[in-house]
Amino acid sequence: MKKIIVLNHKMNFEKDDIVKYIRNIKDMIPADKEVVICPSSCFIPYFDGKYNFKLGAQNGMYKVRSSCTGEISFEQLKSFNVKYALIGHSERIAHFNESNQMINKKIKSCLDNNILPMLCIGETDVEKSLRKTPRVITNKIKECLSGIKIDDSFIIIYEPVWAIGSGKIPNSKEISEIVNFIKDLVYLNYKVDIKVLYGGSVNATTLKTLVNIEELDGFLIGSASVDVEQIKRIFDII
Ligand code: PGA
Repeated sequence: MKKIIVLNHKMNFEKDDIVKYIRNIKDMIPADKEVVICPSSCFIPYFDGKYNFKLGAQNGMYKVRSSCTGEISFEQLKSFNVKYALIGHSERIAHFNESNQMINKKIKSCLDNNILPMLCIGETDVEKSLRKTPRVITNKIKECLSGIKIDDSFIIIYEPVWAIGSGKIPNSKEISEIVNFIKDLVYLNYKVDIKVLYGGSVNATTLKTLVNIEELDGFLIGSASVDVEQIKRIFDII
């Protein structure tokens, strides 16, 4: 199975940089990987072409054609060939109070529009120190997937909140255990084998360890994804 590599640009780049970025990265995409680029929404039209990577959204709105100033629906994103969407990223929870109920509606709307949702889940440092990770994950999956039928294309990204942008990652044993826990939990409840990626401080250095974790189906790369030279090194490692 092809490993999935998701590049989350967050709020980086301006118009001229993005044109240059696409020009540089399009010839670097490895054929044996599924690469998904999630640019800022304003740059999505720049990616609407015949490229060897897939286009992802960093967010979307579950309402359709409604009075919702400033939002972009998954239906609109679909019309630009968006195939994937990050859902419930911890930065959206921190800045916009996204609730599990909202995340649930977003997942439904993605699936209605043939967009593959990538549900982000992970514990905070406090939850980790209190050994609450399995409970946090169980609750998140239960509430976010309530009433939703998923199949084996579904993606969960295990992304510990404390690892994002910190340069720190869990050790390999911890990641393996949590990824297996997520896969088993989903199998038990939905009878499907989903894919689980890891996110949080993934870069050319941390990947030397992360790449050996067999259970992982891929990676979500944030800050390192804006540096084309680093991306090249990352593709060589994975
Ligand atoms: P990071 O971010 O790679 O900069 O830690 C990952 C993400 O939040 O998408």
